[in-house]
Amino acid sequence: MIVTLDGPAGAGKSTAARALAARLGWFYLDTGAMYRTVALVALERGLSLDNATALAGVAESLDLGFQDGRVLLGDRDISDEIRTDRITQATRPVADAPPVRAAMKRLQRRLAAGRDVVTEGRDQGSEVFPQAELKVFLTASPGERARRRHREEEARGRRTSLEAVEAAQARRDEGDRGRPVGAMQAAVDAVILETDGLSAEAVVERLVTLVETRRPGRTAP
Ligand code: DC
Repeated sequence: MIVTLDGPAGAGKSTAARALAARLGWFYLDTGAMYRTVALVALERGLSLDNATALAGVAESLDLGFQDGRVLLGDRDISDEIRTDRITQATRPVADAPPVRAAMKRLQRRLAAGRDVVTEGRDQGSEVFPQAELKVFLTASPGERARRRHREEEARGRRTSLEAVEAAQARRDEGDRGRPVGAMQAAVDAVILETDGLSAEAVVERLVTLVETRRPGRTAP
């Protein structure tokens, strides 16, 4: 079975997707990490982020692995490196490049083949897995998302203002919604889950309930 979890940054997707996959004992596919890894490799090779063909070449030959919640490039653990601001910024042109998205789509389908998967991103339900048994679009108000992100940043020891976080978030949302290929959008048949005021545990409980009602062989109530 495939469960897709899409939505904007800060809606609580990663936490929810990871916890849901752990709870079900399923594979967790972090597609944001995939785009981030392409950006990391491109920077390390000194490639221009405007060169879509070169970026697609990186995406096509990515030696990527997911193991115990860590992201591996070959046998190198890059989980923390791909979360730096530098990589977050470099990922934007990478994720905008249509040939990179085409390569990622193929890789995502290959990684999911024959497995029970929770896959998380922007376009998983709308574009990559249109046949998924359950599609969820997780969202929250801009203010709530910015407050969560700000708390995370502070917890990591980074000093930043709520206003700066909110402005950066608005820029990312615009980029994610506006890209010509693979734009962030809820699939027409997605369940919209608004997470304002919900704890992470409450979100996972709702997701588990949704999965139970959609499992193949079950009749929806
Ligand atoms: O979810 P995240 O912050 O790790 O995503 C990193 C970047 O990749 C962000 O700019 C959105 C983009 N992305 C995408 O375009 N499509 C996806 N399926 C997942 C992420």
